[in-house]
Order: sequence, then structure tokens, then C-alpha cells
Amino acid sequence: MEPQEIQKKVEEFENEGLGWYQNIDLKCGITTKTRQIWGEEIDHPRKRFEEIATAIPADLTGKSVLDIGCNAGFLAFEAKDRGADYVCGVDLKQGYIDQARFCAEVRNQELDFRVLSIYELESLQRSFDLVFCVGILYHCQYLLEAVEQASRITADTLIVETAIHPAHLDLPLVRYVRSSGYGGAQAEGAARLPGHWHPNMTALTDMFLEQGFASVEQLFVYGGRGGIVAHR
Ligand SMILES: C[S@@+](CC[C@H](N)C(=O)[O-])C[C@H]1O[C@@H](n2cnc3c(N)ncnc32)[C@H](O)[C@@H]1O
Repeated sequence: MEPQEIQKKVEEFENEGLGWYQNIDLKCGITTKTRQIWGEEIDHPRKRFEEIATAIPADLTGKSVLDIGCNAGFLAFEAKDRGADYVCGVDLKQGYIDQARFCAEVRNQELDFRVLSIYELESLQRSFDLVFCVGILYHCQYLLEAVEQASRITADTLIVETAIHPAHLDLPLVRYVRSSGYGGAQAEGAARLPGHWHPNMTALTDMFLEQGFASVEQLFVYGGRGGIVAHR
């Protein structure tokens, strides 16, 4: 594709449909995102990525990677850039999968992007060496089902990042946050979101230990978000 054609398509995605939630480097001097959708930063999810980056092996040669709730594919592309053999990204929304496929085409990389819910991962009929479950658990109405699906498909390492409840670390607690309260009562689109489960770090760790992982380590806790890495 010629640069003008790429730029035109990027702007079409920006102005029509879902807009760019993620800023993807298209590796041709063009990046995707120029405006906020949910109050996230323009280089989103760069900061989130840096919070979990220590748990991602620098060399993924020969490995298989799954990015659950991949959006436009930021983490999937990061895995491909690190040499992963097979990278699959799944998201509930066709519009994000269209963005991810466009980015893969422009970056000239082969990845497998599919419309698929976190509750349907078994239909992939395989497991993955490394699984990302980043920024999605708080969207999941059936929290434990999502935890089980993400765990079952992980052969080795699972990285989880989600909204957390920061208190009561002596007790494993999960708080239910009503959808209308998410991001403030005026937040555009909030009513379309389901209710949200916010575990504290103890509950987040315990839920994954319960799935049979040998270890679950805390990566970070900051600003109402937390991350863990679970190893088989
Ligand atoms: C907050 S975004 C996070 C995207 C990306 N993982 C990141 O950290 O930038 C949540 C993503 O999960 C997707 N999603 C929400 N519910 C889902 C589900 N049940 N199954 C698969 N994807 C889902 C949304 O469409 C959206 O792309």
C-alpha cells in the first residue's frame, strides 16, 4: 500500500466506527491514534505495556502467543516483533479485528486475528505458551468463567492486567462496580458496558492459584490497576 492510501485508511478507522483505542506503530512513519476515546493517553497502551513488560521474554522465537481482547493488536504485534512463531489475537468486536488485520497487512506480518469471545477460547482447540489477558477481566460479567477459560488455554505463562480494588489486602475480596458508575455517571457509552468486577490483589492472585498455576507473582499495583504473571 502507498503511504497516502495507508494514511487515508487510518483516518477512516479514526473517524468511522469504533475509532482507534490503541496507537499502533505501522512501521512506515505512520501511527494510528490521534484522539482519546475513553480518556486513555494518545500513545495507549504504551504505559500499560511497560507495566507488564518485565514478564514478557525478550526472545519469543518458536513460541505461540494468544492476546485475549486484543483490540487493534498492540500486544500481539509486540510478541511478533519478539520473534513469536504463531500469534493469535481475539476480540469480541469485528471493528477492532478489522483494525488489527489492517495493521498486520501494513506491517507486513502474519498474525491470526479472529472475532471470538473470552468465553469461547476452547474453540481454538489448542493451548499457547504465552497468553495476554490485559484490560479485559473487568469487562467480563462471568468473571470466574473468564478466568477459567484464560487459564485452561495457557500452557506456560499467563499475564493478567485488570482494574483492581486497592484495599483489604488481608482478605480476598471482589467488588462489584455498577456500569453506570464506571468512569463517572456522564461517561459516554458507560451504560452500554456490563457491570464490572474489581478483585483486590489477593483475590486476583488466589483466583489464578486456584486454576493450578505453580506460581502467581505480582507485577504492579498502581492507580486502581494491577498486574500478575502466572506460571505453570
Ligand atoms: C479496555 S480494552 C483493552 C484492549 C487491550 N487488551 C489493551 O490493553 O489495550 C478491552 C478489549 O476487550 C474486548 N472485549 C470485551 N469483552 C470481551 C469478551 N468477552 N471477549 C473478547 N474480547 C472482549 C473489547 O472489545 C476491547 O477491545
